Amino acid sequence: MTSFFSICIVWIAVCIGVLYAEGQIAVSAHERSTVVLPCKLKVVSETPYIRWSTDKEVFERSGKESFQGDGYEGRVDVPEDQLHNGDCSLVLKNLTLADKGVYKSYQAVTRVKRSALVREKWELINSVELSVDGKRTFQRRIPEISIPTGDARMNWPHPLVMVLSLLSCFLFR
Ligand SMILES: *[C@@H]1O[C@H](CO)[C@@H](O)[C@H](O)[C@H]1NC(C)=O
Repeated sequence: MTSFFSICIVWIAVCIGVLYAEGQIAVSAHERSTVVLPCKLKVVSETPYIRWSTDKEVFERSGKESFQGDGYEGRVDVPEDQLHNGDCSLVLKNLTLADKGVYKSYQAVTRVKRSALVREKWELINSVELSVDGKRTFQRRIPEISIPTGDARMNWPHPLVMVLSLLSCFLFR
């Protein structure tokens, strides 16, 4: 009886977590570690132009040209070959507590106008919430690579499935 109740509570918690993950990806990592913020291009073009920003500029890349924002110098990259394959994930090294925040990735939508490529607008691809934990700064080990806790592209259970599971929890109690 009590265990069934616990199962139901766990289920509710999982469902809430899943619903939250659906809207925004959450990534947490320790200070000084390396984190990969996931991103996949919607449109693979010849030279994709992508941008990552919080409330300030973080990183931009178009072909070989890239830009690293203030405070991110030498720590951020979207490797060129990776981007060429449609993967616009941001690699952020040596995390600091100040790096926490919501990171948004954008792809420039371009069109040809009078035989010149004109950047039309930035289209949002992904929104990733990064939290940085500073408790383990005393550890000096091999740098950790953090795996994102959620992936927006995965198919999460349909709300109906959740309702049915909850219902079955109470029925078989
Ligand atoms: C990481 O950042 C700290 C300052 O936040 C700096 O002292 C240290 O040298 C950096 N480590 C690497 C490997 O860049």
